[in-house]
Amino acid sequence: MREWLEPEHVGRRREPLGTVRRAVPDDGFTCVDLDGDWEFQLRPHPEAAELSTWLTASVPGCWTTEPSLWGEVADPPWYTNDQMPWPDLPPTPPTAHNPTGVYRRDVTVPADWAGQRVLLHVGAAESTLLVRVDGEPVGSSTDSHLAAEFDVTAWAAPGSTVQVELTVVKWSASTFVEDQDQWWHGGITRSVRLFTRPSLHLSDVRTVAAADGTLAVDVRVGCDLGEGARRGYLPDGWRVAVSLGETALTFDAAAHARDLDDERLSLYRGRARFRGEFPGIATWTAETPVLHDLTVELRDAEGTLVDSEVQRVGFRTVAVVGPDLLVNGRRIFVRGMNRHDRDPLTGRVVTTAQVREELLTLKRFGFNAVRTSHYPNDPTFYDLTDELGFYVVDEANIESHAWAHEICDDPAYLPAFTQRVARMVRRDRNHPSVIVWSLGNESDYGANHDAVAAWIRRDDPTRPVQYEGAIKDDWSAGFASSDIVCPMYAHLEQMVEHVTQRPPLRPVIQCEYSHAMGNSNGSLSDYWAAIESLPGLQGGFIWEFADHGILQREDDRLPAGRAGAGQFADGVPAPGYRWAHGGDFGDTPNDGAFCLDGVVLPDGTPKPVMYEHRELSSPVRLTYADGALRLRNAYDFSGLGHLRGQWVLEASDGTSSSVPAQLPDLGPGCTATVDIPRELAEAGAGERWLQLVVTQAEGTAWNPAGAEVSRPCVRLPDRDRTPAGEAAPVAVDVTGAVEFPGLARPELTLWREPTDNDDIAGDGGRWVAAGLRDAQPAVVVVDGSSVTSVLKTTAGEVRHVQRFTRGEDGLRVEDTVELPEGLEDVPRVGVRIPLAGRATGARWFGTGPWETYPDRCTAPVGWHELPVADLAVPYVRPQENGARTHVRELAVTTTAGVLRFSFDQPVTVTVHPDAVVVDVAHRGLGTASCGPNALPPYRVATGTHRWSWSVQSSELA
Ligand code: GAL
Ligand code: MG
Repeated sequence: MREWLEPEHVGRRREPLGTVRRAVPDDGFTCVDLDGDWEFQLRPHPEAAELSTWLTASVPGCWTTEPSLWGEVADPPWYTNDQMPWPDLPPTPPTAHNPTGVYRRDVTVPADWAGQRVLLHVGAAESTLLVRVDGEPVGSSTDSHLAAEFDVTAWAAPGSTVQVELTVVKWSASTFVEDQDQWWHGGITRSVRLFTRPSLHLSDVRTVAAADGTLAVDVRVGCDLGEGARRGYLPDGWRVAVSLGETALTFDAAAHARDLDDERLSLYRGRARFRGEFPGIATWTAETPVLHDLTVELRDAEGTLVDSEVQRVGFRTVAVVGPDLLVNGRRIFVRGMNRHDRDPLTGRVVTTAQVREELLTLKRFGFNAVRTSHYPNDPTFYDLTDELGFYVVDEANIESHAWAHEICDDPAYLPAFTQRVARMVRRDRNHPSVIVWSLGNESDYGANHDAVAAWIRRDDPTRPVQYEGAIKDDWSAGFASSDIVCPMYAHLEQMVEHVTQRPPLRPVIQCEYSHAMGNSNGSLSDYWAAIESLPGLQGGFIWEFADHGILQREDDRLPAGRAGAGQFADGVPAPGYRWAHGGDFGDTPNDGAFCLDGVVLPDGTPKPVMYEHRELSSPVRLTYADGALRLRNAYDFSGLGHLRGQWVLEASDGTSSSVPAQLPDLGPGCTATVDIPRELAEAGAGERWLQLVVTQAEGTAWNPAGAEVSRPCVRLPDRDRTPAGEAAPVAVDVTGAVEFPGLARPELTLWREPTDNDDIAGDGGRWVAAGLRDAQPAVVVVDGSSVTSVLKTTAGEVRHVQRFTRGEDGLRVEDTVELPEGLEDVPRVGVRIPLAGRATGARWFGTGPWETYPDRCTAPVGWHELPVADLAVPYVRPQENGARTHVRELAVTTTAGVLRFSFDQPVTVTVHPDAVVVDVAHRGLGTASCGPNALPPYRVATGTHRWSWSVQSSELA
């Protein structure tokens, strides 16, 4: 049988998945851990003969990232977005080249397992798994992101040593529904174990724990050896007991009687329903992830414990009511992130510790939700989201992007749809963190979707269902498959229009928005201003958590694999290595750098957008209007008691003072007027900003006590600074040179190294074509203390007039730039100031300390200081980076001295080691690599730009 060729083939002899997890080495149940070394060979296709050599592979592991495993069949990682990597039509995968990994290992079955079932658990295999024991076919499985378990009792007698063989076929009919935008890999990507179960055992436990404290528990008892459960209920004297903490739940005798009457209790399955009422019990939310232990016990007639199960229960209720997604009856905000399983060394293999670290990072930066894009994660992921507090959109492993129309209506693929969705639901249903089921991603919208949505609605009526494809073309349609309007990359305008033009019928929560490719995520603050103010809008999931760069050796272009551990730091590969993207392994066709679109660099180093998000999601908000300072608790459920505050006033005259803050006792969503501390109200001169440094009073899993949570700030009214006295004209020589220590004459620049957004939107190309990159400004007139230069672009000449004077604040410069009509939407209008020495440090009054751009600058305004090396951001593909907006004062320390700039209006500043660039206008970043370009208010205006500034220098002693 060639299972990998048939779409209808989803698995053979696979055990059903349920909430009871047994293949856990440390849960006290008998289990043989089979992770570690296996004999391995990579064959060219599934029907190829055995090769002469056997290598050693580590399980779990991808062979694609470990070149030493390839032998004759080179099979590096391969990146495509929506296109399939080969031209074959569904359902047929390539036949001649279909890398197939064969894993073999001798396993001794413990002798004391006699009389019990023996099961094999394979955590995940990509993409079709064939299992043999001692050469005999046992079963098979598909779905690269869910476990497959097989009853091997008949092949693996206790006390014997058997050979387990796991064949993993990379390309199969099911590959067509695993066409997610990510690297293609091959291997066994999660743990493998052998475990045992008593013949009569707890097979499934289903809990429904509601916010009102009602608890329903359905227990299923499985009997595999036929004895005992003949009448469909437990043998005489056997019983199941369920308790929450110390409190026993009540057996629902009426339900049991009904089941008996209806003959619902089938031969080999016991079913028992229990109920409990716990009014007033602490509920679960992402902010207050309270879990309670539920114990289920199965005892025989003598009262001996035969099987038991402990699960953590969170009492919470999810509902979509009209345009609101409610958790425990309250409208929440979904501050979400899309997350893939990926690692720069191991490809698709991630450890629980690593996932935990990633979740802690998300917590630290204010995220409260994760979409498991685009497939179910390892079961331990959901334990962590329950415990740490995240709302999870659990997504089925279905994406048929390349053949979306064809497959979504094809009944041959219906079994794959059903099994992928149902097995996920059956596995994850008891997790309070899972609040929505997602039918998958980018598979158009067809009958298969409505079929599986209906299946879920019946099997688990306690959660909403979502599917982007169902609402893609019409936000008022697709109700059968989506309870949520969950578009991707929708324009802000469309969102606003949808909820304001007529009453919205469903909540709008983007399943993907704000594409984090390179230097990106413009206008997050605009999205959130709308989301937090317009009923019907509730949030969204940023695309995506991590850049998928794979560590590659530069000399032989091979993936570094596990041996690359330690060969990178702070987002940057060590010499001799680089972050590979599509095409770097010779993978053709590919989608290049489109996989580098995360809010963290490949090694997990947060990009500046993370700080932007931290501020946008700040639990404490400040506003200042009409002389009143208001503070709002932005939580959905919590008070502010666990936070501390410190007021800081910083002003452009150099003032920096602070006093402890008393945070008001405010309920979620509530606002209070607070006093500006008297010591600060009148402090400082020039531009003045009041910051509230919010810190953690006590430590949490993600932040130690005292750690900064956020730093909201407001601008207070300016107070006059002593105006600079008269300035005298400064002579400029005939070449236009201005004599000033440490400074050559600043020259006009309209160019920025295109970001990924700029390039993909075509703006980068447009700017090159306009001449902005290559044209050099040429001095045309020198008139006493003024210099006029001209930059020739294809849209006409740009005139730049500079006037130089000298006053007590040093050299003063007045710049006027006239953009010709027709030269529209340039990246910047500014001057580049070459430095005499090498810049080593910068101290500035403006936004910071992290990198900001005009449409991504939610950051405290005040005094910040950083070494120049830390101002730049090592985006994987080099591009514009390192700016700070709203700068009024700047001191740059160079090897030749210190330059002190003072700007008469806020400017955007970028300090490079050899130059300072000062922009009076800088274009926003937008997110055009997938989604909207910079919004109109963040485009550089045409016409005349004027600005002025002064600079002083002091030479180093
Ligand atoms: C979406 C898709 C994601 C990813 C993203 C672009 O269309 O669902 O998987 O491709 O765009 O990076
Ligand atoms: Mg896709």
